[in-house]
Amino acid sequence: MSETSTQLYPPPAEMARTAHVPGFAAYQALVQEADADHQAFWGRLARDVLTWRTPFTQVLDESNAPFYRWFEGGTLNASHNCLDVNVERGLGDKTALIFEADDGTITRESYRQLLARVCRTANALRAMGVQKGDRVVIYMAMSIEGVATMQACARIGAIHSVVFGGFSAQALRDRIADTGASLVITADEQVRGGKRLPLKAIVDDALALGGCEAVRQVLMYTRTGGQVPFVPGRDVKMSELLPEQADTCEPEWVDAEHPLFLLYTSGSTGAPKGVQHSTGGYLLHAALTTRWTFDLRPEDVFWCTADIGWVTGHTYITYGPLALGATQVVFEGVPTYPDASRFWQMIHKHQVSIFYTAPTAIRSLIKACEAAPAQHPRHFDLSSLRILGSVGEPINPAAWTWYHEHVGGGRCPIVDTFWQTETGGHMITPLPGATPLVPGSCTLPFPGIAATIVDETGNELPWGQGGMLVVKRPWPSMIRTIWGNPERFKKSYFPEELGGTIYLAGDGAVRDEQTGYFTITGRIDDVLNVSGHRMGTMEIESALVAHTELVAEAAVVGRPDDTTGEAICAFVVLKRARPTGEEAQRIAKELRDWVAKEIGPIAKPKDIRFGDNLPKTRSGKIMRRLLRSVAAGQAITQDTSTLENPQILTQLAEVN
Ligand code: WT7
Repeated sequence: MSETSTQLYPPPAEMARTAHVPGFAAYQALVQEADADHQAFWGRLARDVLTWRTPFTQVLDESNAPFYRWFEGGTLNASHNCLDVNVERGLGDKTALIFEADDGTITRESYRQLLARVCRTANALRAMGVQKGDRVVIYMAMSIEGVATMQACARIGAIHSVVFGGFSAQALRDRIADTGASLVITADEQVRGGKRLPLKAIVDDALALGGCEAVRQVLMYTRTGGQVPFVPGRDVKMSELLPEQADTCEPEWVDAEHPLFLLYTSGSTGAPKGVQHSTGGYLLHAALTTRWTFDLRPEDVFWCTADIGWVTGHTYITYGPLALGATQVVFEGVPTYPDASRFWQMIHKHQVSIFYTAPTAIRSLIKACEAAPAQHPRHFDLSSLRILGSVGEPINPAAWTWYHEHVGGGRCPIVDTFWQTETGGHMITPLPGATPLVPGSCTLPFPGIAATIVDETGNELPWGQGGMLVVKRPWPSMIRTIWGNPERFKKSYFPEELGGTIYLAGDGAVRDEQTGYFTITGRIDDVLNVSGHRMGTMEIESALVAHTELVAEAAVVGRPDDTTGEAICAFVVLKRARPTGEEAQRIAKELRDWVAKEIGPIAKPKDIRFGDNLPKTRSGKIMRRLLRSVAAGQAITQDTSTLENPQILTQLAEVN
């Protein structure tokens, strides 16, 4: 999905005058400032945007590249920046969070109230023995409490690692074990789309799987009051521990480089990687991108629909908007419940002015509104909107145009923000008052981000030629390391072939010959993007072959899908004869459920095809590019002469 359209959408005249970055010349001036003196640029912004306890003495230390260190000598606290600073500057009574529950119940929390809640939670964590540098795994519902527990960890210098509530007990266990967490914070249940889904029970299962012996306690927020198992001595209810706590809590002042959080994400091989982010550099970019990319103003109501279990929820719910004193919506539910007009109703009700969502949500709502025209956005007053955002995967021009026209009323710029878990915040994105838009293109690098395109040997390519996306200079919110695996960090992101100090994003990209605008052409590794969720093909393969009774061999590839962007397609060789008809369907279902249990429902293969074998070269290597063609239903045009068993392709092309 690398198509772009040729139509240009200039910034609205008013925004080009009044935005934080007003007009293209203002954008270019920032780019030049950063080019001329990278360190002075970031140093200036770090002083402007953040409140430091002790000022930093050095902007960037490159002596141990690629283990870059930013803002040496500086100390600060992320929660202090997000809460105390705002209360001190008179925003105590301003609404920080507007929480809308799945059933429509609304709870508002001011900056003063949120600060008190975070302090109580932080005191509770300290009372449970959590100390600076300890890891805390958060497996939570979308809630004010979820945001507050993240902030509470930051307040005491504990390193949070949020695990998305859709991951299975096995996946949760792997993450808890890798972090060595001493505490898990969860809810009894979560509510989505009118259904109650377990959380606490899954935590119990995860801990029972073993390997999480460092966990001493489990802190539980009561969301539904449903019946859940409770282990006396280990489990503690928030509702019992929090009211005893003081409303104030002295923040732990940490070095700029102190890890703020770990967030696990999929790579092309091996187990998910614990991406480690810093406090100072990360928070700077979270706040700065929220200000410039969304042109955030004091009167805005910001709504990012992501879950706090993903990096988007970290940067554009928990940290960026709060660091700027914004009012934001936090939503527990799903876009299609009770029907597909939920987003439009909420935008109107809360007078949302900046709306940030994923292409997959847009595409599924387009479909839903075709089926039920009364739910189409045209029937709702969305005039409060001024800026729209897109994130997580390429947005195809058709979806872009619909979003622009029907949600944005043709008035609102769409910022198509390219970034990654590893980058901490936006990397390539339009700025709404500055950048003319082209549907399908994430346009130009954020000021200070030295993104470019190179070939396999690291040579920069001219505009018009596709290659690998890299970032030539470090930036403050970059990944610091992979938790417990610095070697893998170097190999994955700073490969020797590119000189060892250039960040390799893992995406292919091309720049427009005339404008230099970037278009992301998709991953260059074995990572899939399904509904904006990142998944390693190897991870799913490992899950499949872990079913040792049934599965002999499995290969997983992606194929294009109209709604989810990519869909997971698994080719499976069973330990028994190749099934057909009903038997094939029964086994396919069993394998899907198995993968859901091993990783989570988001990793379930959409297609499962059975073969007597997989297409292999004579040396036994699986030919994945052929499988990709088969999965996409394309005729095989590639050379198959090196294949040991070309006839297998016909068999695998059969859909059961
Ligand atoms: C991968 C990162 C960005 C936070 C959420 C996902 C793809 C992300 C875009 C975009 C084209 C995009 C890339 C990237 N991606 N945003 N605007 N246009 N592709 O974070 O799970 O770390 O995934 O998502 O392939 O590498 P993530």
